[in-house]
Amino acid sequence: MHVKLLLKQTKINMPETIIPNKKAIPFLRWAGGKKWLIKELNQIGIEKCKFNNYHEPFLGGGAIFFHLSPQKQSFLSDLNTELIDTYRCVKNNVEEVIQELKKFKNTEEFYYDIRAKKFRKDVKCAARFIYLNQTSFNGIYRVNLKGEYNVPFGYRKKDFFEPDNLRLASLLLQNVNFKEGDFENCIQNVQKGDLVFLDPPYTITHNNNGFFKYNQKLFSEDDQYRLSEVIDQIKERDAFYILTNAAHDKVRDIFEKNDRVLELKRASLVGGLKAKRGNYSEYIFTNLND
Ligand SMILES: C[S@@+](CC[C@H](N)C(=O)[O-])C[C@H]1O[C@@H](n2cnc3c(N)ncnc32)[C@H](O)[C@@H]1O
Repeated sequence: MHVKLLLKQTKINMPETIIPNKKAIPFLRWAGGKKWLIKELNQIGIEKCKFNNYHEPFLGGGAIFFHLSPQKQSFLSDLNTELIDTYRCVKNNVEEVIQELKKFKNTEEFYYDIRAKKFRKDVKCAARFIYLNQTSFNGIYRVNLKGEYNVPFGYRKKDFFEPDNLRLASLLLQNVNFKEGDFENCIQNVQKGDLVFLDPPYTITHNNNGFFKYNQKLFSEDDQYRLSEVIDQIKERDAFYILTNAAHDKVRDIFEKNDRVLELKRASLVGGLKAKRGNYSEYIFTNLND
């Protein structure tokens, strides 16, 4: 990443301490995050693909976006408005977000105090979002019926933010257009030669029982069919796509399009309190060449 060049181009007040050429890493933890996929990108064909603009309509923590650090334009979106507002704030007001975060403490009392508060100023909202994400149990995003964040305190020892990483992230985000909303409304800008990385919530178990009804609200079977149509549109525009999904016959039926299908086996924590390691597979569908 050309930090010095970007520094000249942007109005970000960047202290001298920042290390040129160091890459930003995700500053949020996210359920279903794709950090594990980074080591598989070579076999998927992404490293060889000279794509134009980059699109990620199920952004979450953006593990693949940060890893690729695209130099051209990116279009990033998610249904989660608070998440997108936080990215926007880190893009536009990173120093103010850092100043807010410096006031926060990683204690149980402070956590529940901040969790109960609602801020109006977007910088404070962004700082609260990053703080709760990093200090909560498991970093999951969960709200009650009233839309209030209700994840308990996590007792994590780790620092909850790294100022220089947020600054690097802010630089990277200067080339990003953000949008909140459903994936179907977030692909208008896809053009020939672009790359679209699609990482929807997985709505079935990794065994063969199928579980669509149980997850109706999260991402329904209809949503999966809508997503399949969106991929058809991406292909019609001569753009590249990568879709991750659960390895399940039903999923294969919906998304098999004479493109490549990779089955990646991985170890994962399964179960609740008595969690143990299990092996399961995920599918990658792509029109990239290997
Ligand atoms: C598996 S996570 C993405 C994780 C991300 N790839 C990462 O590395 O952190 C799926 C994301 O899709 C978002 N989402 C769920 N339904 C959506 C929809 N209909 N349209 C757009 N985004 C949606 C969720 O808010 C969540 O952030």
